[in-house]
Amino acid sequence: MTTVHDEVRQIQAEAAPARFARGWHCLGLVRDFSDGEPHSIQAFGTRLVVFRGADGTINVLDAYCRHMGGDLSDGEIKGNEIACPFHDWRWGGDGRCKQIPYARRVPPLARTRAWTTLEQDGLLFVWNDPEGKKPPAEITIPRIDGAGSDEWTDWHWYTTVVNTNCREIIDNIVDMAHFFYIHGSLPTYFRNVFEGHVATQYFNGGARDDLPSPEGKPKPLGTTSVAAYYGPSFMIDDLVYHFEDGDYQTVLLNCHYPIDANSFVLQYGIIVKKSETLPADEAMATAIALGNSVKAGFEQDVAIWKRKARIDNPLLCEEDGPVYQLRRWYQQFYVDVAEVTPEMVDRFEFELDTTRPVEAWQQQVRENLARQAEAAS
Ligand code: FES
Ligand SMILES: [Fe+2]
Repeated sequence: MTTVHDEVRQIQAEAAPARFARGWHCLGLVRDFSDGEPHSIQAFGTRLVVFRGADGTINVLDAYCRHMGGDLSDGEIKGNEIACPFHDWRWGGDGRCKQIPYARRVPPLARTRAWTTLEQDGLLFVWNDPEGKKPPAEITIPRIDGAGSDEWTDWHWYTTVVNTNCREIIDNIVDMAHFFYIHGSLPTYFRNVFEGHVATQYFNGGARDDLPSPEGKPKPLGTTSVAAYYGPSFMIDDLVYHFEDGDYQTVLLNCHYPIDANSFVLQYGIIVKKSETLPADEAMATAIALGNSVKAGFEQDVAIWKRKARIDNPLLCEEDGPVYQLRRWYQQFYVDVAEVTPEMVDRFEFELDTTRPVEAWQQQVRENLARQAEAAS
């Protein structure tokens, strides 16, 4: 006997957390902060100023001056300090006021918030911690072998604002089915591993033959991807595109930082390995072309996020990925270190059985192709 459930499923959703995730967040490319000007960044519910001092160090401070609230990101870099546009108080990268040109002495309490930074592989990171602690030594961002190497291209980089809470992009780590329905690929292998502060997605997929290839560009036959989040916001994807003429090795970064509870800055960038079939110029052109296809992919996500509801109790079928386990992993970044529980950080591994989805999707592709052939004849 089958049981009939006639109760209507209700969507449950609490407001997005007012707290921001603990962890390293990438603010963008070092080269974009190195023009001698202060940069204004809306992040973590406030405004930051990013400036490169004469000594070459990039500093990140709270932008609002502790004197009378001036915006340091409208100020001027003077030596190693940022000068406030309001009364010229000079703030050092350590957060201390170094000089007040019109005053006999600097008040001993003249100290603002200095953010811990990391410059690595051409990227600038800041450490966010609501408890105000320094980053533990074991929470690092791995080096990216290809970055800065002559055998690879430079970063081709994208930045965009997304008006939703950043949990939506995290859900992508486990959401296999959406790759078929919105991203035009046909996943054939899909596995997740969560452990400590790292969440990984192993993905193999083919292209959907029923969809047109982008204007004049060959479509990859498929992709092999190992994508891992190191902490709450920074993903490194070792992504191989399989083309007729061979494999293209790429590294795709996908990272974000929160502006506030309901918006974030999404950034992503790609480098491509040069080879005999892919000399420097062509490798860069490939990085741009592949980057643009990634951009189209994120735009597909954004179109969904714009219209969807926040949902704390997704209703899942057996062929969906481990959304609840992923969200438990993600929760570790939103509680105090002392509140982190084993279920948030213990190793968890799950491989989806793709047999049924692959059958269904191949069938759908065949039907679409038949329909297209009929329409064309
Ligand atoms: S408000 Fe910044 S110097 Fe006065
Ligand atoms: Fe997506």
